[in-house]
Amino acid sequence: MNVDPKVLAEKYDTPLYLYDFDDIAMRYEELKEAFAGQKSLISYAVKANSNLFVIRHLAQMGAGADCVSIGEVRRALSAGVERYKIIFSGVGKRDEEIREALESGILMLNLESEAEMKRVELVAEALGLEARISIRVNPNINPQTHPYISTGLHENKFGVEIDVAKRMYIYAKRSAHLNPVGIHFHIGSQLTELDPIREATLIVADLVRNLRAIDIDIKFFDVGGGLGVVYENETTIPPKAYAEVIYEAIKGLDVTLVCEPGRYLLANAGYLMTRVLYEKENAGKRFVIVDAAMNDLIRPSLYDAYHRIEALKEADGNSEKRTPADVVGPICESGDFFGKDVDLPPMTHDDLLVIHSAGAYGFTMASNYNTRGRAAEVAILDGIDHCIRKRESFEDQVALELACDSSWQEK
Ligand code: LLP
Repeated sequence: MNVDPKVLAEKYDTPLYLYDFDDIAMRYEELKEAFAGQKSLISYAVKANSNLFVIRHLAQMGAGADCVSIGEVRRALSAGVERYKIIFSGVGKRDEEIREALESGILMLNLESEAEMKRVELVAEALGLEARISIRVNPNINPQTHPYISTGLHENKFGVEIDVAKRMYIYAKRSAHLNPVGIHFHIGSQLTELDPIREATLIVADLVRNLRAIDIDIKFFDVGGGLGVVYENETTIPPKAYAEVIYEAIKGLDVTLVCEPGRYLLANAGYLMTRVLYEKENAGKRFVIVDAAMNDLIRPSLYDAYHRIEALKEADGNSEKRTPADVVGPICESGDFFGKDVDLPPMTHDDLLVIHSAGAYGFTMASNYNTRGRAAEVAILDGIDHCIRKRESFEDQVALELACDSSWQEK
């Protein structure tokens, strides 16, 4: 990253999220290159990291945005993503969200049920518009990933079965207010196996061929996101191999290929820096207590996810004497940990730890639990640091409560 983390910790305080913008750019270009063989659009999954500067950075390189709330659509638009590259997905959209998305002229709304399609049709009719839609197909494929982030099985709430999708396309084609332009699937996140991707793509490509036979012409073939990354020692899928498998499955179809990576672009470009508060031992068990907590990065607590933890310590003769320690935060829950049995040198007050692979689903899943302000975020580009979100203050946290009428409680 070409910066001194200690200087940044001094300048911005901790806990602190750092993002290497050069790294994000490199990963984006690598994906773009892999998909260069055919018309393609990389719509960044904003949920992974929705900071406006991150979205703008990707938009400037040509990325679109995959959004799952009208809030994310607004973020994408205000960060300069071209409206014709924005997709609005999600199993449950409110009428107001549908209306605003239709009015803003984004590329398409991705639908996940017949009931939702009928609502979109009604809203489009009221606006006198034709809604461009895609339908999320659930191919019933096991993606072999963590159950919380598996989405492509019938037991999951996502998408519709092939037969239902077909019925929906036929309905949409006849409707004056629906224009079925796309098809979509997303079988899960942190995928490390190619076979489930191949199988799912083949199933959905077949459906596109069947639809073509009945004069329904799909223009956007959206394979979702999910490309896995290395957190620990996973074998991941190279972008080229990923693209090849998809191209092979859609051979002969004249479609624009869309993919929606989130984690792949951000996870390993981001770091959470935290300072050691103190060490303690409970009956021989070593704990290193730090100033970041599960409210800053919930992945270890929620998914038992592994994040590499690195101690930034000068060699001082003691640093080789590593022993296992649980790295924990100050929150009142035993689930508040970043790592168990991490081999660490002796740590003292203010020593710095860097939690790796924290760029995706880190800050976006942060909360104010225990009235802890959310961390500051800093981007590094060409070796220069730029603040991209200020640390949240106590005043920021209580502002919406103080904005309410309190006279009813005053004695
Ligand atoms: N497209 C759709 C429809 C999705 O549901 C998702 C992620 C993506 C794209 C982006 O997936 P990615 O490329 O980032 O794997 N909080 C969890 C991950 C939840 C993913 C939800 N959907 C975590 O921290 O692992």
